[in-house]
Amino acid sequence: MATPTSRKKSAAKPTLDFGHAWDYAPAPESIPVGLKKRYDLFIGGKCVAPADGKYFASTNPATEKKLADIAAGTAKDVDRAVKAARKALGGPWGKMPAAERGKYLYRIARMLQERSRELAVLETMDGGKPIRESRDIDLPLAAAHFFYYAGWADKLAYAFPGRTPSPIGVAGQIIPWNFPLLMAAWKLAPALACGNTVVLKPAETTSITAIHLAEILADAGLPEGVVNIVTGAEQTGAAVVSHPDIDKIAFTGSTEVGKVIAKGLAGTRKRLTLELGGKAANIVMADAPLDQAVEGILNGIYFNQGHVCCAGSRLLVEESVAEAVVEKLTTRLRTLRVGDPLDKNTDVGAINSREQLARIRELVDSGVAEGAELTQASCPLPAKGYWFAPSFFTGVTASHRIAREEIFGPVLSILTFRTPEEAIERANNSPYGLSAGIWTDKGSKIFKMVHALKAGVVWANTYNKFDPTSPFGGYKESGFGREGGVHGLAPYVRL
Ligand code: NAI
Ligand code: MG
Repeated sequence: MATPTSRKKSAAKPTLDFGHAWDYAPAPESIPVGLKKRYDLFIGGKCVAPADGKYFASTNPATEKKLADIAAGTAKDVDRAVKAARKALGGPWGKMPAAERGKYLYRIARMLQERSRELAVLETMDGGKPIRESRDIDLPLAAAHFFYYAGWADKLAYAFPGRTPSPIGVAGQIIPWNFPLLMAAWKLAPALACGNTVVLKPAETTSITAIHLAEILADAGLPEGVVNIVTGAEQTGAAVVSHPDIDKIAFTGSTEVGKVIAKGLAGTRKRLTLELGGKAANIVMADAPLDQAVEGILNGIYFNQGHVCCAGSRLLVEESVAEAVVEKLTTRLRTLRVGDPLDKNTDVGAINSREQLARIRELVDSGVAEGAELTQASCPLPAKGYWFAPSFFTGVTASHRIAREEIFGPVLSILTFRTPEEAIERANNSPYGLSAGIWTDKGSKIFKMVHALKAGVVWANTYNKFDPTSPFGGYKESGFGREGGVHGLAPYVRL
């Protein structure tokens, strides 16, 4: 493995040289998967062709090879899906006792577990994330969400004491490409537990596992029309948002699109929850166990190629340990394995799409042009596919674009501070407020800072830890509404 290089303005110079590093033999995941040539829409419990017969390609971002054709859903298809969802609401699903509803969710959770190996491979092929992540994070958490909300289905009265919860109706749910199945689970499980029906729109680069999930829903015997999946891009999403017979929209994606949706729904009766971008501060105090903190930093930003809304993309490190942290990070950068996402040794996989890679490159170039110093892992990148070497910037100031804008790639911006007060001020100096992290040996510092940080989730001495019992959501331009936990039920009930 090669040495990390650094770039300031246009000069590229190698930084530290650590000599030789070892390598592993390839360990590709080999389970056969039932990848289909063509994926249709899932409406009214059946796979149906899109109204105008158009399909688009889904490619493997690690190879640029086409995987399958995906149905391009039109406004007509969205309308069919909404009608099917409305019918299901008035049919067996609406009349079903809550405990029975819960049984379906348990069944879906178990079937996700049974098929998790195959689904993890499909997720990795379609989205580019390392198999280790789809296998160990996405799939187990997706099943856990169904298990968790299954338990709530017949206990809603306890979640809202003294009130009488009833379903909202038909929910339109639009999800992104960074955790395709997991985001589907986050959206579907609470909606179904509360007795709603759904029209789900997956992201256009990662639709495949959603249709495999549809198969599971059908095999589980979920009554037809309870969940409808309409694949497609922006226009399909917009058709869901503007459909007059949808009662609630739940969206996860960019702040830009979130704002468009919020404007579109202003003045309508539709309810809305938004989970948008982030620019999380991961704060390392001088008294933190630095080796552990560095592992947490890596997990926070290089994990899933930085395609994480709560990624710890701003590292705020106390000045007295900044040099030590940067040195440890530089050392670790060279041991990160970037490459074949299906290889079980891979740490960092492919960037999800050509467009996303272009966005990352543009922001990284802006960082160099504005005078920050870029250090990159100089590991060899595959010739085909979309790749970006794990990187960090030093010499970053709060006004740099790389310190303010969401990069959504494996790129860390490092800033320093001198006092806890300064750390808090810097951390909160962002239009976003989704998550934050603190690393310190002192519990009292954790309590003080957690209360001062304007972020929906604050991790202490860990990062990117998820659990279905814990609510997740943002402050400020990171959106509103909570997913997960008992809080995640609220957007799906009328009281
Ligand atoms: P996006 O916000 O355009 O896409 C998210 C979902 O919204 C997709 O399913 C898409 O088809 C749908 N969509 C797009 N335009 C729509 C519209 N007008 N009405 C309804 N639905 C619409 O995100 P994109 O373009 O893929 O990524 C751009 C940036 O957004 C990324 O670089 C990243 O910074 C951020 N992002 C944040 C995510 C998060 O989890 N908070 C997830 C994905 C992207
Ligand atoms: Mg794809």
